[in-house]
Amino acid sequence: MSAPIVRIEDVTKRFREVVAVDRVSLAIRPNEFFALLGPSGCGKTTLLRMLAGFEPLSAGRIVIDGEDMAGVVPNRRPVNMVFQSYAVFPHMTVAENVAYGLKVSRVPRPQIGPRVAGALAMVRLEGFEGRRPEQLSGGQRQRVAIARALMLEPEVLLLDEPTSSLDVSVQAEILNLLVQLRLARGLTYLFVSHNLAVIGHMCSQVAIMKAGAIVEQVPTAALRSGALADPYSRQLLKSSEGYDRATAAALVSYD
Ligand SMILES: Nc1ncnc2c1ncn2[C@@H]1O[C@H](COP(=O)(O)OP(=O)(O)O)[C@@H](O)[C@H]1O
Ligand SMILES: [Mg+2]
Repeated sequence: MSAPIVRIEDVTKRFREVVAVDRVSLAIRPNEFFALLGPSGCGKTTLLRMLAGFEPLSAGRIVIDGEDMAGVVPNRRPVNMVFQSYAVFPHMTVAENVAYGLKVSRVPRPQIGPRVAGALAMVRLEGFEGRRPEQLSGGQRQRVAIARALMLEPEVLLLDEPTSSLDVSVQAEILNLLVQLRLARGLTYLFVSHNLAVIGHMCSQVAIMKAGAIVEQVPTAALRSGALADPYSRQLLKSSEGYDRATAAALVSYD
Protein backbone atom coordinates (compact mmCIF):
# COMPACT_ATOMS: atom_id res chain seq x y z
CA MET A 1 0.00 0.00 0.00
CA SER A 2 1.28 3.47 -0.87
CA ALA A 3 2.30 5.93 1.84
CA PRO A 4 -0.34 8.46 2.90
CA ILE A 5 -0.41 11.73 0.97
CA VAL A 6 -2.16 13.49 3.88
CA ARG A 7 -1.30 12.84 7.50
CA ILE A 8 -3.30 14.60 10.17
CA GLU A 9 -1.55 13.96 13.47
CA ASP A 10 -3.28 14.66 16.74
CA VAL A 11 -4.73 17.94 15.49
CA THR A 12 -6.74 20.16 17.83
CA LYS A 13 -8.42 23.47 17.14
CA ARG A 14 -9.83 25.65 19.88
CA PHE A 15 -11.88 28.80 19.40
CA ARG A 16 -11.64 30.24 22.93
CA GLU A 17 -13.54 27.71 25.06
CA VAL A 18 -14.94 25.77 22.06
CA VAL A 19 -12.91 22.72 21.05
CA ALA A 20 -13.92 22.53 17.37
CA VAL A 21 -11.47 19.74 16.47
CA ASP A 22 -10.29 17.41 19.20
CA ARG A 23 -7.08 15.39 18.71
CA VAL A 24 -7.93 14.14 15.22
CA SER A 25 -5.56 11.75 13.47
CA LEU A 26 -6.22 10.54 9.93
CA ALA A 27 -4.12 9.14 7.10
CA ILE A 28 -5.34 9.54 3.52
CA ARG A 29 -3.68 7.61 0.71
CA PRO A 30 -3.03 8.90 -2.81
CA ASN A 31 -6.08 8.58 -5.09
CA GLU A 32 -8.31 7.76 -2.18
CA PHE A 33 -11.86 9.11 -2.13
CA PHE A 34 -12.06 9.70 1.59
CA ALA A 35 -15.27 10.85 3.29
CA LEU A 36 -15.85 12.72 6.49
CA LEU A 37 -19.32 12.21 7.92
CA GLY A 38 -20.81 13.86 10.97
CA PRO A 39 -23.55 16.17 12.19
CA SER A 40 -23.57 19.92 11.78
CA GLY A 41 -21.10 21.63 14.13
CA CYS A 42 -18.87 18.57 14.67
CA GLY A 43 -15.79 20.28 13.19
CA LYS A 44 -15.67 19.11 9.58
CA THR A 45 -15.26 22.53 7.97
CA THR A 46 -12.71 23.59 10.58
CA LEU A 47 -10.62 20.50 9.81
CA LEU A 48 -10.72 21.23 6.06
CA ARG A 49 -9.84 24.88 6.67
CA MET A 50 -6.76 23.84 8.65
CA LEU A 51 -5.70 21.53 5.81
CA ALA A 52 -6.15 24.37 3.32
CA GLY A 53 -4.12 26.72 5.53
CA PHE A 54 -6.94 29.17 6.33
CA GLU A 55 -6.89 28.40 10.02
CA PRO A 56 -3.87 27.87 12.31
CA LEU A 57 -3.75 24.70 14.44
CA SER A 58 -3.97 24.89 18.23
CA ALA A 59 -2.00 21.64 18.50
CA GLY A 60 -0.82 18.76 16.33
CA ARG A 61 0.68 18.50 12.88
CA ILE A 62 -0.48 18.28 9.26
CA VAL A 63 1.87 16.66 6.75
CA ILE A 64 0.98 16.72 3.05
CA ASP A 65 3.14 14.99 0.50
CA GLY A 66 5.83 14.48 3.11
CA GLU A 67 6.01 18.18 4.04
CA ASP A 68 4.96 19.66 7.37
CA MET A 69 2.42 22.37 6.51
CA ALA A 70 3.17 24.56 9.56
CA GLY A 71 3.76 28.07 8.27
CA VAL A 72 2.98 27.18 4.64
CA VAL A 73 0.51 29.72 3.17
CA PRO A 74 -2.66 28.47 1.40
CA ASN A 75 -1.53 29.05 -2.18
CA ARG A 76 1.72 27.16 -1.56
CA ARG A 77 -0.08 24.03 -0.38
CA PRO A 78 -0.79 21.15 -2.78
CA VAL A 79 -4.48 21.32 -1.84
CA ASN A 80 -7.49 23.37 -2.78
CA MET A 81 -10.97 23.65 -1.37
CA VAL A 82 -14.44 23.65 -2.94
CA PHE A 83 -17.12 25.15 -0.72
CA GLN A 84 -20.77 24.34 -0.21
CA SER A 85 -21.96 27.74 -1.34
CA TYR A 86 -19.99 27.91 -4.60
CA ALA A 87 -17.69 30.72 -3.55
CA VAL A 88 -17.24 32.38 -6.93
CA PHE A 89 -16.50 36.10 -7.23
CA PRO A 90 -19.79 37.74 -8.30
CA HIS A 91 -18.16 40.72 -10.01
CA MET A 92 -15.89 38.62 -12.22
CA THR A 93 -16.70 36.71 -15.38
CA VAL A 94 -16.37 32.93 -15.53
CA ALA A 95 -12.97 33.23 -17.22
CA GLU A 96 -11.76 35.80 -14.66
CA ASN A 97 -12.90 33.58 -11.80
CA VAL A 98 -11.03 30.60 -13.18
CA ALA A 99 -7.92 32.66 -13.98
CA TYR A 100 -7.80 34.22 -10.52
CA GLY A 101 -5.41 31.73 -8.89
CA LEU A 102 -3.03 31.86 -11.83
CA LYS A 103 -2.87 35.66 -11.69
CA VAL A 104 -2.24 35.63 -7.94
CA SER A 105 0.52 33.07 -8.47
CA ARG A 106 2.02 35.29 -11.21
CA VAL A 107 1.73 32.74 -13.98
CA PRO A 108 2.89 34.49 -17.19
CA ARG A 109 -0.03 36.07 -19.05
CA PRO A 110 0.28 34.12 -22.34
CA GLN A 111 -0.14 30.85 -20.42
CA ILE A 112 -3.32 31.94 -18.67
CA GLY A 113 -5.75 31.93 -21.63
CA PRO A 114 -5.03 28.37 -22.78
CA ARG A 115 -5.10 27.04 -19.23
CA VAL A 116 -8.46 28.69 -18.53
CA ALA A 117 -9.86 27.28 -21.77
CA GLY A 118 -8.60 23.81 -20.82
CA ALA A 119 -10.15 24.01 -17.36
CA LEU A 120 -13.50 25.18 -18.73
CA ALA A 121 -13.50 22.32 -21.23
CA MET A 122 -12.78 19.92 -18.37
CA VAL A 123 -15.93 21.02 -16.53
CA ARG A 124 -17.85 21.35 -19.82
CA LEU A 125 -18.37 25.11 -19.68
CA GLU A 126 -16.93 26.02 -23.08
CA GLY A 127 -18.59 29.16 -24.39
CA PHE A 128 -19.39 30.49 -20.92
CA GLU A 129 -16.16 32.50 -20.54
CA GLY A 130 -17.83 35.93 -20.61
CA ARG A 131 -20.80 35.19 -18.37
CA ARG A 132 -21.13 36.43 -14.84
CA PRO A 133 -22.10 34.14 -11.95
CA GLU A 134 -25.62 35.60 -11.76
CA GLN A 135 -26.19 34.39 -15.33
CA LEU A 136 -25.39 30.79 -14.36
CA SER A 137 -27.38 28.01 -12.71
CA GLY A 138 -26.25 26.64 -9.33
CA GLY A 139 -24.67 23.60 -10.99
CA GLN A 140 -22.81 25.76 -13.49
CA ARG A 141 -21.52 27.98 -10.69
CA GLN A 142 -20.25 24.97 -8.80
CA ARG A 143 -18.50 23.80 -11.98
CA VAL A 144 -16.77 27.21 -12.16
CA ALA A 145 -15.67 26.75 -8.54
CA ILE A 146 -14.33 23.27 -9.33
CA ALA A 147 -12.43 24.53 -12.40
CA ARG A 148 -10.96 27.33 -10.30
CA ALA A 149 -9.91 24.89 -7.56
CA LEU A 150 -8.13 22.70 -10.11
CA MET A 151 -6.22 25.51 -11.86
CA LEU A 152 -3.20 25.38 -9.60
CA GLU A 153 -3.07 21.61 -10.02
CA PRO A 154 -3.58 20.55 -6.43
CA GLU A 155 -2.95 16.94 -5.52
CA VAL A 156 -5.68 16.91 -2.93
CA LEU A 157 -9.13 18.45 -3.32
CA LEU A 158 -11.03 19.34 -0.16
CA LEU A 159 -14.74 19.20 -0.90
CA ASP A 160 -16.95 20.74 1.77
CA GLU A 161 -20.47 19.49 1.03
CA PRO A 162 -20.01 20.59 -2.57
CA THR A 163 -23.45 19.53 -3.77
CA SER A 164 -25.71 20.16 -0.81
CA SER A 165 -26.97 23.51 -2.14
CA LEU A 166 -27.92 21.93 -5.47
CA ASP A 167 -31.07 20.25 -6.80
CA VAL A 168 -30.96 16.47 -6.67
CA SER A 169 -30.71 16.14 -10.47
CA VAL A 170 -27.74 18.52 -10.57
CA GLN A 171 -26.06 16.84 -7.59
CA ALA A 172 -25.52 13.62 -9.53
CA GLU A 173 -24.12 15.58 -12.49
CA ILE A 174 -21.55 17.34 -10.29
CA LEU A 175 -20.64 14.17 -8.40
CA ASN A 176 -20.13 12.25 -11.63
CA LEU A 177 -17.92 15.06 -12.88
CA LEU A 178 -15.86 14.84 -9.68
CA VAL A 179 -15.42 11.10 -10.18
CA GLN A 180 -14.23 11.61 -13.76
CA LEU A 181 -11.82 14.37 -12.74
CA ARG A 182 -10.40 12.31 -9.94
CA LEU A 183 -9.65 9.42 -12.27
CA ALA A 184 -8.36 11.61 -15.11
CA ARG A 185 -6.05 13.70 -12.92
CA GLY A 186 -5.01 11.22 -10.24
CA LEU A 187 -6.50 13.41 -7.51
CA THR A 188 -7.08 12.55 -3.87
CA TYR A 189 -10.37 13.71 -2.39
CA LEU A 190 -11.37 14.53 1.13
CA PHE A 191 -15.10 14.84 0.85
CA VAL A 192 -17.46 16.14 3.52
CA SER A 193 -21.05 15.08 3.11
CA HIS A 194 -24.21 14.27 5.00
CA ASN A 195 -25.53 12.17 2.18
CA LEU A 196 -24.99 8.50 2.94
CA ALA A 197 -26.03 7.46 -0.55
CA VAL A 198 -23.25 9.57 -1.98
CA ILE A 199 -20.63 8.47 0.54
CA GLY A 200 -21.54 4.81 0.31
CA HIS A 201 -21.46 4.86 -3.43
CA MET A 202 -18.51 7.05 -4.23
CA CYS A 203 -16.06 6.96 -1.36
CA SER A 204 -13.73 4.19 -0.31
CA GLN A 205 -13.13 5.13 3.32
CA VAL A 206 -15.26 7.06 5.75
CA ALA A 207 -14.30 8.67 9.04
CA ILE A 208 -17.22 9.37 11.35
CA MET A 209 -16.88 12.50 13.44
CA LYS A 210 -18.64 13.53 16.62
CA ALA A 211 -18.04 16.68 18.68
CA GLY A 212 -14.66 17.36 17.11
CA ALA A 213 -13.30 13.81 17.36
CA ILE A 214 -13.18 10.81 15.01
CA VAL A 215 -15.20 8.00 16.55
CA GLU A 216 -14.53 5.43 13.87
CA GLN A 217 -12.94 4.96 10.44
CA VAL A 218 -14.24 2.19 8.20
CA PRO A 219 -14.35 1.16 4.53
CA THR A 220 -17.64 2.54 3.17
CA ALA A 221 -18.87 -1.01 2.57
CA ALA A 222 -19.40 -1.09 6.34
CA LEU A 223 -22.13 1.55 5.93
CA ARG A 224 -24.08 -0.83 3.72
CA SER A 225 -23.52 -3.93 5.79
CA GLY A 226 -24.04 -2.07 9.06
CA ALA A 227 -20.72 -3.41 10.37
CA LEU A 228 -20.00 -0.43 12.58
CA ALA A 229 -18.36 -0.89 15.94
CA ASP A 230 -19.16 2.43 17.55
CA PRO A 231 -22.64 2.96 19.02
CA TYR A 232 -22.67 6.57 17.84
CA SER A 233 -21.98 5.60 14.20
CA ARG A 234 -24.69 2.96 14.34
CA GLN A 235 -27.11 5.57 15.64
CA LEU A 236 -26.09 8.01 12.92
CA LEU A 237 -26.70 5.40 10.24
CA LYS A 238 -30.07 4.46 11.71
CA SER A 239 -31.30 8.01 12.19
CA SER A 240 -30.42 9.15 8.69
CA GLU A 241 -32.87 8.37 5.91
CA GLY A 242 -30.58 5.55 4.77
CA TYR A 243 -29.76 4.90 1.16
CA ASP A 244 -31.55 6.85 -1.47
CA ARG A 245 -31.47 4.28 -4.25
CA ALA A 246 -32.48 6.79 -6.91
CA THR A 247 -29.57 9.09 -6.10
CA ALA A 248 -27.17 6.17 -5.92
CA ALA A 249 -28.39 4.83 -9.27
CA ALA A 250 -27.57 8.16 -10.95
CA LEU A 251 -23.98 8.06 -9.72
CA VAL A 252 -20.98 6.48 -11.32
CA SER A 253 -19.15 4.14 -8.97
CA TYR A 254 -15.80 5.29 -7.64
CA ASP A 255 -13.79 2.36 -8.96
N1 LIG B 1 -14.30 31.16 13.57
C1 LIG B 1 -14.91 30.54 14.58
N2 LIG B 1 -15.01 31.10 15.81
C2 LIG B 1 -15.60 30.48 16.84
N3 LIG B 1 -16.16 29.25 16.75
C3 LIG B 1 -16.11 28.63 15.56
C4 LIG B 1 -15.49 29.23 14.41
N4 LIG B 1 -15.59 28.36 13.37
C5 LIG B 1 -16.24 27.28 13.85
N5 LIG B 1 -16.55 27.42 15.15
C6 LIG B 1 -17.23 26.43 16.00
O1 LIG B 1 -16.55 25.21 15.88
C7 LIG B 1 -17.45 24.11 15.86
C8 LIG B 1 -17.26 23.32 14.57
O2 LIG B 1 -17.73 24.08 13.45
P1 LIG B 1 -17.59 23.58 11.95
O3 LIG B 1 -16.19 23.16 11.71
O4 LIG B 1 -18.13 24.65 11.07
O5 LIG B 1 -18.55 22.31 11.94
P2 LIG B 1 -19.21 21.52 10.71
O6 LIG B 1 -18.53 21.93 9.46
O7 LIG B 1 -19.02 20.08 11.05
O8 LIG B 1 -20.66 21.88 10.71
C9 LIG B 1 -18.82 24.71 16.02
O9 LIG B 1 -19.14 24.66 17.39
C10 LIG B 1 -18.65 26.13 15.54
O10 LIG B 1 -19.58 26.98 16.15
MG1 LIG C 1 -19.36 22.72 7.70
